[in-house]
Amino acid sequence: MSMKPFLKTLSGAAARDKTSKSLETNIPPIWLMRQAGRYLPEYRALREQAGGFLDLCYNPAFAEEVTLQPIRRYGFDAAILFADILLIPDALGQKVWFETGEGPRLDPVVNAHSLSLDKVTEHLEPIIETVSRLSHSLPKETTLIGFAGAPWTVATYMVAGRGTPDQAPARALAQQDPEAFQGLMDIIVAATIDYLAAQAEAGAEVLQLFESWAAALHGDDFDTWCVAPVAAIVQGLRARGVDVPIIGFPRAASCDMADYVARTGVQVLGLDTSADRKAMVENVPENIVLQGNLDPLVLVEGGDALEQAVAEIKKDFAGRDYIFNLGHGIVPQTPPEHVQKLIDLVRQG
Ligand code: CP3
Repeated sequence: MSMKPFLKTLSGAAARDKTSKSLETNIPPIWLMRQAGRYLPEYRALREQAGGFLDLCYNPAFAEEVTLQPIRRYGFDAAILFADILLIPDALGQKVWFETGEGPRLDPVVNAHSLSLDKVTEHLEPIIETVSRLSHSLPKETTLIGFAGAPWTVATYMVAGRGTPDQAPARALAQQDPEAFQGLMDIIVAATIDYLAAQAEAGAEVLQLFESWAAALHGDDFDTWCVAPVAAIVQGLRARGVDVPIIGFPRAASCDMADYVARTGVQVLGLDTSADRKAMVENVPENIVLQGNLDPLVLVEGGDALEQAVAEIKKDFAGRDYIFNLGHGIVPQTPPEHVQKLIDLVRQG
């Protein structure tokens, strides 16, 4: 069987420092963060049938179907498992729920005392079942991406009990009681290694770590709470023989990205909307695949703005191995036909 386009890009880049072979094609693989979701009428219909959002995540038949919806409609090169980064706190024993129209809520924690690794595997079994189903039901040319939240981002929700604009509660805890916060991070890291190893074993071919709140930390704090835990997860997975490519997505981080990649050990660097593509092409080694970074709001706008933005991304990444994506998740008001237009533009060559 010929290699899936998505995986071909990754293996091409991995060999890039050994050969100087030029790229065979400048058409990148494409998928979009949050490609399954509320902008699709078929998602909204199934979501209603499932009951709550968590009920949807924990129902393998429904989660499989929701993952497949954007693949069927658009033929993306990769499918991302339908789940959520907050399933880890739920599996650790923290109460998690979603307030309709508002977002996630959790019973806040200030340390790991009330949490336990004992039931994590059992609790997340339905998600692994979803991965396993998808590895059979996806078209053969489509790559399956598993994921988890990066520990700092997950911890910001666990400590605050909800999403926050500045992640102040987690930053305050990390400053005031670094030992307690480290304990919390350690248990998240351990649970995440188990979870991602199980996803890979069930058929996930690539894994992404979402660090949505990387911009809240700088300097030593960034190294301690963003870089080190992600590096520990990558090392933990490799130590278990999990060899799939790993995508790091430190959204809006102000760090040196070449340094982030080198120290975490990720193979793909996800770039957010604000990233300077030309600087990334120059500074990040060629054996690292770049992923990104169309502004989700340009996708909402469509038309000339979309055409121009896609052309710019292609120009900036020309000659480089990259994966076309948004700079952050697709937003619910995105017209579904703009997504088709985007795919056509990207695949035009
Ligand atoms: O990308 C995909 O299509 C796969 C599924 C996926 C979801 N969440 C589904 C979801 C993924 C990869 C995530 C990641 C996630 N979840 C992140 C990291 C990426 C990011 O956006 O920064 C974060 C921070 C979360 C936590 C979370 N889940 C929040 C803050 C919210 C509420 C905001 C919102 O968009 O509603 C969710 C809910 C959520 N996760 C929805 C979906 C489709 C919407 C739930 C609904 O149907 O009502």
